[in-house]
Order: sequence, then structure tokens, then C-alpha cells
Amino acid sequence: MTRLQSPEFTSRRGFIKASAGLLAGTAAFRFPTPAIAQAAPIKVGFMLPYSGTFGKLGQFIDEGFRLYVDQKGGKLGGRPVQYVQVDDESKPENATDNMNRLVGREKADVIVGTVHSGVAMGMVKVARDTNSLLIIPNAGVNEATGPLCAPNIWRTSFSNWQVCQPMGKVMADAGLKNVVTITWRYAAGEQMINAFKEGFQANGGKVVEDLALPFPEVEFQALITRIATLKPDAVFAFFAGGGAVKFVRDYAAAGLSKSIPLYGAGFLTDGTIQAQGDAANGIRTTLHYADNLDLPANKAFLDAFLKKTGKDGDIYAVQGYDAAALLEGGLAGVKGDIAARNALVAEMRKVKLDSPRGPMTFNKANNPVQNVYLREVRNGRNELIKIAQANVDDPARGCRL
Ligand code: BEZ
Repeated sequence: MTRLQSPEFTSRRGFIKASAGLLAGTAAFRFPTPAIAQAAPIKVGFMLPYSGTFGKLGQFIDEGFRLYVDQKGGKLGGRPVQYVQVDDESKPENATDNMNRLVGREKADVIVGTVHSGVAMGMVKVARDTNSLLIIPNAGVNEATGPLCAPNIWRTSFSNWQVCQPMGKVMADAGLKNVVTITWRYAAGEQMINAFKEGFQANGGKVVEDLALPFPEVEFQALITRIATLKPDAVFAFFAGGGAVKFVRDYAAAGLSKSIPLYGAGFLTDGTIQAQGDAANGIRTTLHYADNLDLPANKAFLDAFLKKTGKDGDIYAVQGYDAAALLEGGLAGVKGDIAARNALVAEMRKVKLDSPRGPMTFNKANNPVQNVYLREVRNGRNELIKIAQANVDDPARGCRL
């Protein structure tokens, strides 16, 4: 079930009050006077999973975003920030309704979401139809910054291609020749596996079998037995959240981690590592982040996130934090006038972030250009081994901006 979680919206009375405030904001939006535009809050609509296998991921994105805003005194572009949350439950079938509700009834100035590539596809279509400002803080669906790219659609995370294609060369260089892939059967899984294969096959590797199960199922046993029968040199996997916790544990419990090394997209062990415990040791992944990146911005972020939430930050929190930083970068250039869309987008294009993940700029399709790191799980952390590929730019295939 979809939940609206803003305190202002917990009662009908509260809803009307918030709507009236928003209408005032809308009036300022149509007939701007600098003083009113400055005073009116910017309404951020979070459309994220707050429950289910990706629930923790959505929560961390939300908390990362709020941390950045708190550090700016509760403001973006000099204007106070108001939030409304929708739990999208990682259900693509509800994506259009949830998105329409945020841009329609809630009149959010900007939508921040989501985690799941299939849900993101629905959001992108509504954003294009309604010209709503959308910042994707996780979902890697290639189309969002590919054939469906648009000036109003931004991403502070990655494309599914971007984080997995570099792993092909890494594994081929490690002397691995025959690999089995395993994932959930949906857009992110398919696109990440295809990107890995593109890199691996170009470097002489062979994929002997692709295994998959429907999202978000976690009955891995039959597939793990199949891997044991095939005896590949290694396995490349994409799972995330609760599903990744169970897969890594099941793989180790079957005794395979000793004989068939497990590789994957970094989501396999990011945000999941504590729950995976020793089962995750030795897993190698590529991602645009590593826990121990020796960067002042990373150290400051991790300290602040721990102080505010009592939790260790991860890539999801970083992506939420950077979504707010991107918005701030754009809004600063238009004095907080979020309705000045063309000028805002022009300012956002110029943003260069000193992100906890390292330097980050945006390509013509509004996707980050960033380092992709090779990491290994050691002592309960995703430790940096090396930069797998520096400044990786998604090819933005099909984008006509
Ligand atoms: C996706 O569906 O795009 C996705 C979900 C979790 C982690 C990474 C990607």
C-alpha cells in the first residue's frame, strides 16, 4: 500500500493547511516577486521504497538528502524545504499513480526518486509528460539518461551500464575465462548483466550461462545448485538490499565462496554488509563508491551521517546527499527560483560536485561522470582496491539532447 508520510498530511485538516501554503507558493511561482519567492518553501516529493527488499535503500537516500539540507540550515537555494514522502514499494505497476499524485495533488516542486529501475521508468514517462523536475537518486535504468533523456530528468547515481561494464575487463584481467551470471529478471538485472558481458566478452571472456529469478524472489537454492554443477571460474551477480543479504549468505552456506569466487555490481555488498557478516568476506565488486575512500569529502560525510543518524553511510546515502547538492548548485545560480526552469537546468549543467564518492560532473544526458572503483569486502567494509576505470561516462545511447 502507498503511504504518504509527511506530518502535514496525516489529517485532512493538515492536508488542507499544507495545500493552502502550497497554493501561496504556486501563486508566487506564477507571478514572482523576489521576496515571496524567497520565503515560500520548496516542496520535495520523495518517491522511494520505504518497505520491502529495497526499504533500507530508500530510507538511506532520504536521510542522505536531509543531511545535506540540514547542513544548509534547512534550506536549498536560500528557501526552506518541505517534504512529502510516498512509499513506492518497488512496485512498477503503481509508479504512474504515485508520480501523478506527487506532481498533481501534492504539487511537489521536485521529485526525488527512486531505487527500482522498473518504477523509475514509470516516473520518467510522467516527468516527460508533465515537464516535472525529477532527480533519480539510485535507479540505473539506462533509458532515463538514454533514449528517454530530457532537460528536466537528472540522475545522481549511475546508469546500469556504467557500474558493470568496467568489471568485464577487471575479471578478464584476473584470468577468469568462464563465468556464470545471476540476477533478478527485471530491467536493472538485465541491463547490468548485459553491460558486464559487453566488457567481459570484449576482453576474451565467455559467459557459460545466465541464471535469473523474478524480482524480488529469494529462493536461490536451485540456482546455486546449478552453479555448483557448472563449476565456472567465477560468478558475476546483481542483487541489492534484502535479496543481496540472503543471496550472499546462501552462497557461502552452500560452500561455494571457497571454490567459485563471487563478483558483482557493488550493490551486492553495499548497505548489506553488516547483515551478511563473514559470508561477504572476499567478494569483489565495482561501484562508484568505496567505504574507505581517502577523501576529505567522504570522511566529513561519513562523520556527519553517523552523528545525525547513528548509522554508517553507504552509497545510497551518498546518492541522496548528492541529489540535494545538485539541486543546491542549480538553485544558487537562480536565487532559489525553482520555477525558472531553463535557467535552473543551465545552472545544474555547470555543477561540479566534490562528492564523497570523488569528483562528479554531469554529461549531456544529465547522468554523472564519475570514477568506478574495484572494492573487496574485508573486515566488514567495502575496501578500495583500485580505480577500475576513471571518469566513466555513460554512452547515453539514443539520447537526443
Ligand atoms: C535498480 O533497480 O536500478 C537498482 C536497485 C537497487 C540497486 C541498484 C539498482
